[in-house]
Formats: sequence, structure tokens, C-alpha cells
Amino acid sequence: VSEPTAGPTVVTVEEVESVARLLDAFNREFGTPTPGVTVLAQRLAGLLARNDVIALLGGNPPAGVALLTLRPNVWFDGPVAMLDELYVVPERRGRGLGSQLLAAAEEAAGELGAELIEINVDGEDTDARRFHERHGYANVDPGQAEPQLYYHRELGSGDQRPQ
Ligand SMILES: CC(C)(COP(=O)(O)OP(=O)(O)OC[C@H]1O[C@@H](n2cnc3c(N)ncnc32)[C@H](O)[C@@H]1OP(=O)(O)O)[C@@H](O)C(=O)NCCC(=O)NCCS
Repeated sequence: VSEPTAGPTVVTVEEVESVARLLDAFNREFGTPTPGVTVLAQRLAGLLARNDVIALLGGNPPAGVALLTLRPNVWFDGPVAMLDELYVVPERRGRGLGSQLLAAAEEAAGELGAELIEINVDGEDTDARRFHERHGYANVDPGQAEPQLYYHRELGSGDQRPQ
């Protein structure tokens, strides 16, 4: 009963609860704070009404999720996509659902004109890195020796900007 009958599909607003539940489970599994299913579902309902935020669900009942955001970029005619989240529940891993979700996310981004898709991965997450590298993602530009690094800074947290 748990096998998907079709490939991953882009969600409708009625399915925000499933997306929220999976994203909440993702953060709980990895000990990352989560605002909870109710808040996530409310946020997703607003976000998915936009045309630059896309969620996909895979499995029946849903066992995996991909969340994509698109933004304009001066170097491309079309938008650049970011795969913000990709998650498959532990008991369904290793059976191709993550690969299906990634392929469906790439297709959905391509249909919206995106020319590049980006993914941030923890450096020590060798399983996820192997997964993405096997699917054609690289963290080194051609001709460069050093991997790209992701820098971030939380704004408005009250800390002092260095002089
Ligand atoms: C990464 C993830 C989405 C892959 O989904 P999946 O359905 O297991 O993917 P597939 O069955 O298509 O491919 C299996 C591959 O996933 C990778 N993988 C990453 N984490 C894994 C895990 N905990 N268990 C099994 N496979 C995992 C492996 O590289 C495996 O390939 P291998 O045969 O070389 O070991 C899923 O494992 C997951 O949700 N992991 C935890 C969350 C995460 O790391 N998300 C990615 C953030 S960038």
C-alpha cells in the first residue's frame, strides 16, 4: 500500500499539511528547531500561492518532499532555482524516491525557465554529497581547484557588525 502509484507531483494547496509534516519530521530527525506543523502549514499555504515557490510530494502516502524557490539572477535570462529542502522518511530511503523527487524538481524548475539549480549541503554529510554528485551536481567550477563555500549571516540578531 505504501508504493507510489505515480511519480512525484507538484503539490496543490490542499496538500500543504503533508508537506508541513515532512518538513517538520526532517528538522526533528536532525535536531534542528522547527516551528511545528501548524505554523509550517500556514506559511506554506502563503508561499505555495506564489509562482516562485514549488513543493513536490512523492510516495503514497507521502513519504518524501522537495521544496524549491526561484529568484531572478543577472547572469541568466531565466530564474535560478534553489533546492531548499529534499527529504525522504528514513524507512523509505535507498529505494529511489529521493532520486525521483530530485528529477521531478529539476523538471518543474526547467518548466519555469530556470537555467541553474543550487543545493546547499553540509560538508560532513557525505551521504547527501554522494547522492547529489551522483546526480550531476558539483561544488567546484570548471578550472577551479577549491570548492565553493556557503557563507551566511543572520541579520537583526543584535550582534555587532565587525569594525
Ligand atoms: C538524501 C535523501 C533525500 C535521498 O533519498 P533516497 O530516497 O534515499 O534516495 P535514493 O534511494 O534515490 O538514493 C539513495 C542514495 O541516497 C544517499 N543517502 C543520503 N543519505 C542517506 C540515508 N540516510 N540513507 C540512505 N541513503 C542515503 C545515498 O548516497 C544513497 O546512495 P548510495 O547507494 O550511494 O548509498 C534521503 O536519504 C534523506 O532524506 N536524507 C536525509 C535528509 C538529507 O540529507 N537531505 C538532503 C539535504 S541536501
